[in-house]
Amino acid sequence: MDKKALITGITGQDGAYLAEFLIKKGYIVHGIKRRSSLLNTERIDHLYQDPHIEKRNLILHYGDLSDSMNITRIIQECRPDEIYNLGAMSHVKVSFDMPEYTANTDGTGTLRILEAIRLLNLKDQVRFYQASTSELYGLVREVPQTENTPFYPRSPYACAKLYAYWITVNYREAYGLHASNGILFNHESPIRGETFVSRKITRGLSRIVLGLQDTLYMGNLSAKRDWGHAKDYVRAMYLMLQQETPDDYVIATGVTTEVREFIRKSFAFVGIELEFKGDKENEKGCVTSVNDKTFIDKVSREHLDKFKHRLKTDPYVIKVDPGYFRPTEVELLHGDPAKANRVLGWIPEYDLDGLIEEMVDSDLVFMKKEDYLRNGGYKINNYFE
Ligand code: NAP
Ligand code: GDD
Repeated sequence: MDKKALITGITGQDGAYLAEFLIKKGYIVHGIKRRSSLLNTERIDHLYQDPHIEKRNLILHYGDLSDSMNITRIIQECRPDEIYNLGAMSHVKVSFDMPEYTANTDGTGTLRILEAIRLLNLKDQVRFYQASTSELYGLVREVPQTENTPFYPRSPYACAKLYAYWITVNYREAYGLHASNGILFNHESPIRGETFVSRKITRGLSRIVLGLQDTLYMGNLSAKRDWGHAKDYVRAMYLMLQQETPDDYVIATGVTTEVREFIRKSFAFVGIELEFKGDKENEKGCVTSVNDKTFIDKVSREHLDKFKHRLKTDPYVIKVDPGYFRPTEVELLHGDPAKANRVLGWIPEYDLDGLIEEMVDSDLVFMKKEDYLRNGGYKINNYFE
């Protein structure tokens, strides 16, 4: 019989990659999507099947992690072998604006699933994955961070995820549930949410070189993150649930990089060299040179001329807006994935350059389409965030 998986957060970045990964492995995938006023299934559109087809391998259910009855009913109906709890209000900065909602979704939401498994007497049939996070380390106690590094959360998001982490451990110890935490460091992709720093940079860069935007306003350029590719990270989630014994694992690349360097590398992919001048809120990224051949290969000759013309009046493409600073910041994340390497045999296939190249190329294609529409007199959206 085909294995069944239930994914909360299936419309998000990781949910989409995980659904694709599990379907390729022969799973029937059930996903929980929220009701919204617009369709919100773009990331899984290529997997989506007409609900009238009889034997489908992707089935969506309306639901919300804040609704215990809904969660319990869905689990009862689909009786999955594996549950991946990826649903969350996942933006750290936004969690300062919506702390109670974040606690309810990211913290208590996890409890609702665990309790449903227990009440439905499915604890010996279901394996549970909790999307824990390197944000738990917050004001880091040691470098690099391992499964034994103490937690010090620095945001309402991280505090909610701290509860989710420990309630997962508690259900494992109290009831013998096969429940594991993946302590995942930042992972990105071409389908990353547009307001996370990586995607904001690759989209902003693409708009700037095409003349759709002049300046990219950023927050803390000195923060360091251990960035990987989401495709590698969903494979680690799956591997955790295939182990005989549940456990908790750090998933990271083991390399940490400043936001400033991520920006520099992204611009370098289209042939633009940047130099950062000034500090704190007065820091700016200035274009110091353009490699014509690379720019033309990646963008176009016509846009090169326009871009060079623009540089004559203003060479500063990056500026800082303190509005993006967080009340409490996580300055440094740097993971040690030794346990996952050893026990799960998990080794990432992407490095940071490969990730950035894929993201820049994908956003350039998207923004060229926008540019084409604009030139044809069609309305395009502004993407200010
Ligand atoms: P994402 O793109 O923001 O996706 C979050 C998903 O959760 C979306 O499908 C969203 O639905 C759904 N969701 C939000 N609130 C919900 C609610 N109340 N009820 C049900 N579903 C809800 O996040 P991601 O990057 O894929 O991350 C997946 C998980 O891993 C999250 O739990 C995140 O906190 C955690 N995590 C992520 C990273 C990372 O670097 N990406 C690292 C560590 C941990 P809508 O599409 O309707 O908004
Ligand atoms: N979003 C954003 N926007 N971040 C910025 C900006 C900006 O304009 N400028 C600088 N940053 C800095 C943030 O202050 C932070 O230090 C870093 O870039 C990364 O920010 P995000 O990409 O928003 O991610 P995050 O690290 O806060 O959280 C992500 O990773 C966590 C795992 O460590 C999210 O995916 C969380 O859900 C996840 O748990």
